[in-house]
Amino acid sequence: MNVSDKIAIITGSGRGLGKAIALKLAEFGANIVVCDIDIDGANAVAEEIKTLGNDAIAIKLDVTNKESINNLLKISMSKFKKVDILVNNAGVLAAPGWETRDRPDEVDWDFIYSVNVKGVAFTSEIISSEMKQNRSGSIVNISSVAGRLATLTSIPYGVSKAGIINLTQAHALELAPYNINVNAVCPGMIWTDMWNRIATQWLHTPNKISQGANDQQEVFKKAIQARTPLGREQTPEDIANAVTFLASDAAINITGQALNVNGGSHMH
Ligand SMILES: NC(=O)c1ccc[n+]([C@@H]2O[C@H](COP(=O)([O-])OP(=O)(O)OC[C@H]3O[C@@H](n4cnc5c(N)ncnc54)[C@H](O)[C@@H]3O)[C@@H](O)[C@H]2O)c1
Repeated sequence: MNVSDKIAIITGSGRGLGKAIALKLAEFGANIVVCDIDIDGANAVAEEIKTLGNDAIAIKLDVTNKESINNLLKISMSKFKKVDILVNNAGVLAAPGWETRDRPDEVDWDFIYSVNVKGVAFTSEIISSEMKQNRSGSIVNISSVAGRLATLTSIPYGVSKAGIINLTQAHALELAPYNINVNAVCPGMIWTDMWNRIATQWLHTPNKISQGANDQQEVFKKAIQARTPLGREQTPEDIANAVTFLASDAAINITGQALNVNGGSHMH
């Protein structure tokens, strides 16, 4: 998985899966643009990468704001002079307060769509403008098992992640003439802030899996046992490995694909 001396931008890399992806790409030789709406998280990850001997910068980014994405490209280019890899990882489950709502409201649909769908579309459009000049690049979008298989937990979230798979195929077609491949990874269940929110909502409105659970961690463990043939949770590193492969030279002839990393919970 060679990404030596490549420049990689990872959105939402101040914590969670994005942080693991940034560290993994650095481990395999890339220099990293850590960007997140949470600049403190981004700064901490950039500092950690520098201790590995790679170069890194932290940039504040709001993927719902085109000006902010243009600013990301401008600062990245002035520092590194090129962009080879974009990982569209920033994503949201629902708007604030969703955990105690009976079902997602209009505020959730709008919030999720602006980050998970428009955010990915505009970030890819703006960053690929630079990749096109070099006729080279790799884009990896983070979808979800929820984009493959409908669940009732957050319907707008599942719809947004299904949209990412379609968007991945559309951008793969559009960017193929410029030697840019575009793929998606569909993670299963990983214990991050996002799953903590799901478990909190499942405690508030119990379902077959969460009934009788005492806390969020117990809900998560029950969900893994109920849904995962391999019987174990996925880790941020599992997702980072898949992303690094798709972003590397080993995957130059793979485009328009969505790779499940879910312990067998869904197989198509
Ligand atoms: N954790 C899981 O089980 C799981 C499963 C499937 C898919 N995913 C997907 O993986 C990705 C990462 O999820 P996670 O579990 O690490 O979640 P997380 O909530 O821990 O991290 C999300 C990151 O995105 C950042 N972010 C949010 N809105 C942003 C915006 N407007 N602009 C820039 N950054 C923004 C946050 O600050 C945070 O650092 C998401 O796209 C999520 O949908 C996660």
